[in-house]
Amino acid sequence: MPNRVNRREFVLSGAAAVVAATVHPAAQAPSGGQAPAVMVRKTVKPVVIASNNGNIYKNGGDVTGVAKAFNLMIGGSDVLDALVAGVNLCELDPLDTSVGFGGLPNADGVVQLDSSCMHGPKKRAGGVACLEGVKTPSLVAKAVMENTDHHLLVGRGAQEFARNMGFPIETDLNTERSRTLWLEWKRRVDPDHYLDPIKRSAACYDAGLQMVRDGLIEFDHFWGTINCDGISPKGEICGVTTTSGLAWKIPGRIGDSPVLGAGLYVDGDIGAAGSTGRGEANLYNLSSFLIVENMRRGMAPKDAGMEALKRIRANTIEQRLLAKTGEPKFQLQFYILNAKGEFAGVSIYPSKYAVCTEQGPQSLDCEPLYPNRPAQD
Ligand code: GLY
Repeated sequence: MPNRVNRREFVLSGAAAVVAATVHPAAQAPSGGQAPAVMVRKTVKPVVIASNNGNIYKNGGDVTGVAKAFNLMIGGSDVLDALVAGVNLCELDPLDTSVGFGGLPNADGVVQLDSSCMHGPKKRAGGVACLEGVKTPSLVAKAVMENTDHHLLVGRGAQEFARNMGFPIETDLNTERSRTLWLEWKRRVDPDHYLDPIKRSAACYDAGLQMVRDGLIEFDHFWGTINCDGISPKGEICGVTTTSGLAWKIPGRIGDSPVLGAGLYVDGDIGAAGSTGRGEANLYNLSSFLIVENMRRGMAPKDAGMEALKRIRANTIEQRLLAKTGEPKFQLQFYILNAKGEFAGVSIYPSKYAVCTEQGPQSLDCEPLYPNRPAQD
């Protein structure tokens, strides 16, 4: 499939999908009177945005996740179905070590996956956490949304639910690469630190970051994750986040990805925000919810996201999380769009995000809070 979206298909689908007319005051109210309500036709430029792995991995095919999601969406698919089909490419691609099959495992070498999804028009949501044995947790999150009265299933219960829904349960989601990297991490962790839980935790984290510095793991993949959000020509907004979570995490650790308001938040009338990066920093601040609320108060996507990053920075005071020069030692990105189809990617340190519009898929620079990562200390 070509990268560029077929122009004719796009024009046809866009025209067919002109939004139901919205009412807003198009003229100043005469003094003392009410503004006349004028019916204005509104068209939204459709867009899909995602973390940059959404424009890298193809799982052996010829399109990336954002392009697949965009093509399905403008072809008339339900927006969430389209986004989930897009992130499935990353979940299933063994080369993406941050998501699904081949995602980096926990400290015991077991791949545990988190995901959530939100459907703006239906105002429904679903999620799974600590899910083992299913390559596509985003599909299970969607099944939770569609088939239960609940928003989040975890661990064994989530797996049992997936089995009952007909998902195949694999005995191990490691690939040779993820298992080899896990063994390397085990080798690097100093057993002396097991005596002191705080030092042990720092040693485990630092061993992982050293592997990033040694070029074994990409900085953006240490915390894993793909988030993908979209708005259709009809102005329908949805989002999905899916991850293997922090590499070498304590078994049972749940990150931000499956938690509504943290790893993902969608309000169909306002916009969507989702994240990748250090989940704990995001959970503490419920940043995706904050970003959507900032947009509700009138902020543009980029400003709404930068405001959240500043709050995260202000709330990060533990020395172990800060470089000697005071900047956070971790990365965090947000992918944001509003109901007008405006979008932005923001991050603590420079990174890329993925976008697909009628111009085709591309990788763009996130707006960074800091221009450079600090020298490691
Ligand atoms: N943002 C992914 C995680 O921390 O699990």
